[in-house]
Amino acid sequence: MNEPLEKRAPTVMFVDDEPWVLTAFQRIFEDTGYRCIYCSSPSEALEQAKSVKVWVVVSDNQMPGMSGIDFLCNMRKISPDTVRIMMTAYANLGVAISAINRSEAFRFITKPWDNDELLSLVEEGVARHDILTSMRSRDESRYRSLAQTVALKDPYTRGHCDRVADYAERLARAAGVEEPLITCIRHGSILHDCGKIGVPEEVLNFPGKLTLEEFEIIKQHPDWGTQVAREAHMPEAVVNVILYHHERIDGSGYPAGLAGEAIPLEARIAAIADVFDALTSDRPYRKANTFGEATAVLNGLAGLLDTRLLEIFNKKVIPELTDQYPTAGMSSPSPDHLYP
Ligand SMILES: [Fe+2]
Repeated sequence: MNEPLEKRAPTVMFVDDEPWVLTAFQRIFEDTGYRCIYCSSPSEALEQAKSVKVWVVVSDNQMPGMSGIDFLCNMRKISPDTVRIMMTAYANLGVAISAINRSEAFRFITKPWDNDELLSLVEEGVARHDILTSMRSRDESRYRSLAQTVALKDPYTRGHCDRVADYAERLARAAGVEEPLITCIRHGSILHDCGKIGVPEEVLNFPGKLTLEEFEIIKQHPDWGTQVAREAHMPEAVVNVILYHHERIDGSGYPAGLAGEAIPLEARIAAIADVFDALTSDRPYRKANTFGEATAVLNGLAGLLDTRLLEIFNKKVIPELTDQYPTAGMSSPSPDHLYP
């Protein structure tokens, strides 16, 4: 009965030949709620990985019998979904970087380590494993529960992914898009912000204007989500929505700064749905706009969003939505949401 236990707690494995290191890890991780496995040799760890589903493994590099890189390489064969973190002495940084380049490792941390850095790295690894396995399942209900997990970090986006998926699908149909692209647009829209799982909560929930530095962190979420989507071999159109939903027609968006039709159609559709939902939802720094107010703001964004799609959205989708969704908030229109 492995499954219920695995569902209760993420399993994290630590591999190091020095007993004091494992004892230190034990102390650091004892209250985290993870199910931790401590192994003093790579061969013991590989044996355990055959029978236990490991979410994240943290391995030393210099160990007798097998190097950390060879161990991670073997781990990858036995358990491809396990997120691999390499721990290495500062002098061996080149080894760690080549491990990352060869994709044997997701991240590395240097010895002596910083406890908080190690904790947050493992937390990031657990989140990555969660996203990867949800995406690999090809199960829409798992995509939706993943999106809800992201929304837990940012209460202002509760229900956001479901609504964006609904608006984007309606717009795609109204614009004459056909299957299987419609399904990709729906799936991409559910998952578009999954990379926010890697953004610290205090940045996501900051109730004022973000600093440039904080904004740079938020701007990484499309890349972060895309890396995992590619590893999960999601269809290209789904990846395009995740990667390009913040691109803008005039080239002012991120992460690639694409302009016009260089932005894939599926991402241009999702961008309109995303902006419309942001306008009609409460934000930490303002109340929601009504549908009427949001429409007025959208019309003023013709240079940033696809003009032809905006017209279709106004004419065909908004009348449908007005019947479907009650609106909240009566504040003045504000385009502040556009960049975060
Ligand atoms: Fe986003």
